[in-house]
Amino acid sequence: MLDGVKISVFGATGQIGSQVVDLLAAEGHDVVAASRRTGVDVLTGAGVAGALRGAHVVVDVLNSPSYEDEPVLEFFGTATRTLVEAAQSAGVGHYVALSIVGATRLRMSGYMRAKAAQETLIEASGLPYTIVRATQFDEFAELIVASMTEEEVVRVPDARIQPIAAAEVAAHVARAAIGSPAGVVELGGPDKISFAELARIVGARHGDHRPIVVDEDATYFGARVDDDSLVTGEGAVLGTVRFT
Ligand SMILES: NC(=O)c1ccc[n+]([C@@H]2O[C@H](COP(=O)([O-])OP(=O)(O)OC[C@H]3O[C@@H](n4cnc5c(N)ncnc54)[C@H](OP(=O)(O)O)[C@@H]3O)[C@@H](O)[C@H]2O)c1
Repeated sequence: MLDGVKISVFGATGQIGSQVVDLLAAEGHDVVAASRRTGVDVLTGAGVAGALRGAHVVVDVLNSPSYEDEPVLEFFGTATRTLVEAAQSAGVGHYVALSIVGATRLRMSGYMRAKAAQETLIEASGLPYTIVRATQFDEFAELIVASMTEEEVVRVPDARIQPIAAAEVAAHVARAAIGSPAGVVELGGPDKISFAELARIVGARHGDHRPIVVDEDATYFGARVDDDSLVTGEGAVLGTVRFT
């Protein structure tokens, strides 16, 4: 673990970034919070060099405002190229990024293709890096189930998912930022559950008793998924907060 490091967090006002900033600041680290709301834009490059001045570590927890195929690819491509180049110029020694378990497997999803492209740019940069691939956040479950909800039924794929609390993801990213570059690491929730179980829990929370139908043609945001697509493999770090 490093002491006295300066850490620049990009995406600092987001769901994960805001928690990462708080955790690192509470431990006494020198943290720079960067996002458009703090005057830093990774698409135009405005403020990026300033936010990286003297930084030892970059934490990239940015997210695209649009999830459509073209804009999301454009976002992660431009943002990552900009940050990688600026990090190289600033002499940053560790690039920490948050990606998704399955990003390199789900080629049918534009969002996942964009995350895979982001990973490739970081890996090819020559910068020492840690890419934390997390499974879907607990907090994202409602949107996932909403995307599968039709008027009369909830139509789910015959596949597993492994939700993890966003707070546990933020804690892991913060730990990675003060640790040594570790390459690609997987992080998942404690339980691998079916999409049907996920939909049942979310439905019960809302008093929504629409029948849940397991449909082999149902997709995860357009991508075909199976039991292994979205869950961690061997050697993954697991959270402790149960979605169930
Ligand atoms: N949701 C999931 O289940 C899941 C699972 C695994 C991994 N992930 C990954 O986790 C990461 C973080 O997700 P999140 O939910 O914390 O994202 P989020 O809440 O949407 O936050 C996105 C951040 O990016 C900043 N941002 C957007 N455009 C920017 C720009 N042009 N320049 C500078 N900053 C910009 C936003 O701040 P401003 O608006 O102020 O610019 C905000 O701070 C994402 O990369 C995602 O792929 C998500």
